[in-house]
Amino acid sequence: MPPIRLLIVPGSVRASSLNLRLARCVQQLAPALGMAGSVLDLRALDLPLYDGDWEDQHGVPAGALALRDALDAADAVLWVTPEYNGFPTPLMFNALDWLSRVPASVGQVAGVATTTNKPAALLSASSGPGGGLRAMNLLRQFLQMNFAMLVVPQQFALGRAQEAFDDAGALSDPRAADAVKAVLAATATLAKALRAQG
Ligand SMILES: Cc1cc2nc3c(=O)[nH]c(=O)nc-3n(C[C@H](O)[C@H](O)[C@H](O)COP(=O)(O)O)c2cc1C
Repeated sequence: MPPIRLLIVPGSVRASSLNLRLARCVQQLAPALGMAGSVLDLRALDLPLYDGDWEDQHGVPAGALALRDALDAADAVLWVTPEYNGFPTPLMFNALDWLSRVPASVGQVAGVATTTNKPAALLSASSGPGGGLRAMNLLRQFLQMNFAMLVVPQQFALGRAQEAFDDAGALSDPRAADAVKAVLAATATLAKALRAQG
């Protein structure tokens, strides 16, 4: 069976982002679980802040179509979210708002159709002790209710993430590494089951 294509989406891509580090760590772990991971750079989509007047004038931006295409090509999506005042980042929410505005066109599905019934999973990383758990739980609800994603129950919040990685970018604490692997394993199991169903 070809590997499960896992799209990894960190909600922060600043140079020293802890969530980007966690996303890259997952990319390294993915092959051992039968998955091929690629990390999506939300900032590179160059999406303006959603504004209905902007949309009336310009239509849906190319970055939103690129996001739809990246999601469409994936078997499963791993969202890696920071926590800003209890919420996922504006970078992530803005991208999802734009995705919801992508209409179906000839030969191409609408934004929300790409996510419907698609396996998803959640991780978060924060410098605080809670690891972004509040943001992750809100994101779960948001992805399930608005984007009809099948979010696996397993999730993991990496607290004090600035101390969590070794020089090679792996998680130093084996319990943290096992928790991340459990999330990936559940995602792979669901994606493989759906693939087998056709
Ligand atoms: C505006 C803002 C709000 C924050 N709020 C929280 C918070 O509610 N909970 C938390 O654990 N950390 C919070 N933090 C700290 C972030 O978790 C920390 O900056 C983290 O490194 C951001 O993710 P990144 O490294 O992937 O960019 C906040 C940071 C900022 C800039």
